[in-house]
Amino acid sequence: MITGAALLTAVLTSVTTPASAADTPLRDLAAARGIYLGTAVTGGKLTGGYGDLAGAQFGSLTPGNEMKWEAVEPARGTYDWTGADRVVAFAEAHGQQVRGHTLVWHSQLPGWLTGGSWTPAQLRTLMTDHITAEAGRYKGRVDHWDVVNEPLNEDGTLRPSLWGAALGESYIADAFRSARAADPAAKLYLNDYSTDAVGAKSDGMYALVKRLLAQGVPVDGVGFQAHLVLGQVPASLETNLRRFAELGVDVAITELDIRMTLPATDAELAQQKADYAAVLRACLAVTRCAGVTVWGFTDSDSWIPDFFPGQGAATPYDENLAPKPAHAGIAETLAPVTPPAPGVCSVTYAVSSQWTGGFTAQVTLRNTGTAPLNGWTVRWTQPAGQRVTQAWNATVTQTGAEVTASHLSYNAAVPPGGTVAFGFNGSWSGTNPPPAALTCATGT
Ligand code: G3I
Repeated sequence: MITGAALLTAVLTSVTTPASAADTPLRDLAAARGIYLGTAVTGGKLTGGYGDLAGAQFGSLTPGNEMKWEAVEPARGTYDWTGADRVVAFAEAHGQQVRGHTLVWHSQLPGWLTGGSWTPAQLRTLMTDHITAEAGRYKGRVDHWDVVNEPLNEDGTLRPSLWGAALGESYIADAFRSARAADPAAKLYLNDYSTDAVGAKSDGMYALVKRLLAQGVPVDGVGFQAHLVLGQVPASLETNLRRFAELGVDVAITELDIRMTLPATDAELAQQKADYAAVLRACLAVTRCAGVTVWGFTDSDSWIPDFFPGQGAATPYDENLAPKPAHAGIAETLAPVTPPAPGVCSVTYAVSSQWTGGFTAQVTLRNTGTAPLNGWTVRWTQPAGQRVTQAWNATVTQTGAEVTASHLSYNAAVPPGGTVAFGFNGSWSGTNPPPAALTCATGT
């Protein structure tokens, strides 16, 4: 029975100190914030100014085309690793991670494969042999594999690709199991486009990932390509990333670019700066977001003008390798944030339910600062002999009248503006007033 609710808020001060990030390589800024910043590259261009920037500014490389099926297995059972080896060797020489892209896709397949006539059993074997060969060759050298790329239709159903049509959804599970066997250390990703917002396609991906995990399929991460249109960063991007992360997988932005109608105006470039910053912020706000990869770092190496005539300027550097406002947007968003001083939070305490001798209370902590909280503790004094008997979503201990509640591993991180709630049951007699004050502190 709810007989009343008490509400009390303690608000403490916030502190944040952004530092200058102008001259620090983007890869270092990203690493200091716990994510990687990567780029797709064209292996043949990795010399001169292009190579200098790719090596110095990015912590992860994705071969734009060199690891695709048509590139590595141009004839059945005959492999050509020249292009892929070049990118991997460059990454190793520059202390960079590699995102392998991609083992199973419906596009950029060799003619012998698409033109052949195969039974489902033959196709399955061709697929698993290919995965075993490619993931096996780069065992221990590729950090993340896009094991299956673009498996879904726009409505979230299975795409009737060469693979989906012949084998149904089971090809995805088989692909992941083969990749895990070939390279147990690599993080295995499902990757798709137009899944960035909450919507039909991402709902389909969400349900697919859930089904795969329930079957014990080794899916480690979900990639969101994020080929975006100027001014249209989805408002639900962060929420969407977070709901996947809560399934127990990593998430990553894998192919970010933001296109506009050419010629680019100053206003459009300013909007693009804000858009890049918004995508970076969404990743930073989600603890399991591993990193952000731009799909080409210079406008001279972007797929957009070829595929969307009249559009382009989609990357952070212009065609002459000069940084654009988008570059500053990334750097400013990744700028170091001094850890918040203790107390950058507010707390509310509410008795939601009360009966003879017992009550339930909910305590909600809000991060009122501009930096993420990494761990928290809330303390209060029970004023009338109340005792905590059972708690959830926090470790709650009571000594005399003093109560201390601290985070659990899964709710330690609270993004700026975010809240985390925990609750407890307590006993009371006589009266059940709320605490006079609650304090919160940050840190693990
Ligand atoms: O290699 C040939 C070259 O020999 C020929 O002279 C030239 C003439 O057009 O074409 C070259 O092949 C091109 C290939 O890129 C390598 O540069 C293809 O025409 C071109 O279609 C191909 O485009 C790639 C595209 O995937 C194909 O789907 C883009 O570079 C690549 O950035 C793009 O990447 C995809 C991701 O893999 C998956 N997500 C979407 C993303 C954008 O489409």
